[in-house]
Amino acid sequence: MLARSAEGKALDYAPQARVLDGATAGAVGRAAEAGRFVGSTGQILDILAPQGVDAARLLVIGVGCTDFNDAEAVEIASARACRAIVTSGLSELVLDFGCTPETAARAALGARLSAYRFDNYKTRQKLDTAPSLLNLRILVDEPDAARQSYEALAALADGVVFSRDLVSEPSNILYPNAFAQRVKALESSGLEVEILGEAEMKTLGMDALLGVGQGSTRESRLAVIQWKGAADPEAAPVCFVGKGVCFDTGGISIKPSAGMDEMKTDMAGAAAAAGAMLALAGRKAKINVVAVLGLVENMPDGQAQRPGDVVKSMSGQTIEVIDTDAEGRLVLADALWYAKERFQPRVMIDLATLTGGVIVALGMDVAGLFSNDDDLADRLARAGEAEREPVWRLPLTKSYEKLIDSQIADLKNLAGRPASAITAALFLQRFVGDTPWAHIDLAAPVWRKEFTDPTVPEGATGYGVRLLNTFISGYEAGDAQGLQNS
Ligand code: BES
Ligand code: MN
Ligand code: ZN
Repeated sequence: MLARSAEGKALDYAPQARVLDGATAGAVGRAAEAGRFVGSTGQILDILAPQGVDAARLLVIGVGCTDFNDAEAVEIASARACRAIVTSGLSELVLDFGCTPETAARAALGARLSAYRFDNYKTRQKLDTAPSLLNLRILVDEPDAARQSYEALAALADGVVFSRDLVSEPSNILYPNAFAQRVKALESSGLEVEILGEAEMKTLGMDALLGVGQGSTRESRLAVIQWKGAADPEAAPVCFVGKGVCFDTGGISIKPSAGMDEMKTDMAGAAAAAGAMLALAGRKAKINVVAVLGLVENMPDGQAQRPGDVVKSMSGQTIEVIDTDAEGRLVLADALWYAKERFQPRVMIDLATLTGGVIVALGMDVAGLFSNDDDLADRLARAGEAEREPVWRLPLTKSYEKLIDSQIADLKNLAGRPASAITAALFLQRFVGDTPWAHIDLAAPVWRKEFTDPTVPEGATGYGVRLLNTFISGYEAGDAQGLQNS
């Protein structure tokens, strides 16, 4: 709502704030002085029970600039405002950014994403933390245009929320077939969904994927989601491939118990891909996109795969399973090969909570990106930047290939601690052939322990949905341009 001036006279630049300052006999200005208010993005001046205006509370929110149509700044400011009010006891919030309809739609997106909660399993809420906000109004000159602009963003928010819900669910509820059924329900949004069971995967030769799930009483599944939005339904699709390990105990190479509960999020790659598909269908994207999700549970058991076992992947390549905790790459080996063989995609992007090593390398906010194609890598990096879902490219170092060669099989699934995110990516690369491919190792940013971005609450972030949605928009724009030129 407000801008920052070089001298710190933030209010001078914001017409709405000047009006309110007048109405409140200077209270807004005095509060700004008293609160060191400079109008930085998301900074809030909170005036309770103001005199002279018909409101219980008056929030003045910084957008960090004098451009009231900086969509990202307005999205963040709106999210901050909602977070300040959502459990305040107040039931209505009116936002006035004095912006265009398009920017107002971004304010709505920010509000929706910031208000996300996963409290399905709370049978009681404390009075002071129960949500109170019921109505949000955004003032704008052309409400119809704003509503129109919001349609595609509402679809995006649906995708992010779908993904966050999947990642938040505990693994006794969200096991592979339960995940598959939730994806199947997306057919009502216009997506085509097939669910393959263990017998079908066995026939296809997917023993790498099936080996991971064989110690679990929950059966493995492969979900295939198709969106055919291109003029030609047969046109080669963009393909997403997701790691969907619904729980990762490590298997016989069992993980330490401290923090093991977080391994319910080991399906976040599949959740991001599924959420993106929902967003694309919701906004009727003009392109063909496919998602292939490998859904398994990695458990230790009398039936479980042993360290040292050798399995044959669908590609025909044999894999020595040195460590049953390096299971994601075994699942993706078959899912990637299947996606490539069946769909011959124009590009293929896998998303996986694949390694602890990528967290060591890049920290909690950034995902690792690997690719055999510079154009694809650039597109993903730009989309991530635009959506505050950053990726950073790491190398597919050729001289490390020997680290995944096995003495008795074609390759092995463990290469030791050094460069473990890279050797995992090199492993995947052996299952993509010549397809332009990228791998996003999002082990860190799918779960957040502290707030940094007000549109992303603590817990499941839905990381990847916004990135993929914007990445796809780039292809749609390019395809439309191509059609015009031909
Ligand atoms: N799911 C984990 C990776 C992970 C770690 C995700 C921490 C999120 C937070 C993966 O299956 C795994 O266990 N990776 C091991 C591989 C190792 C045994 C080669 C790792 O990175 O430590
Ligand atoms: Mn593991
Ligand atoms: Zn895992």
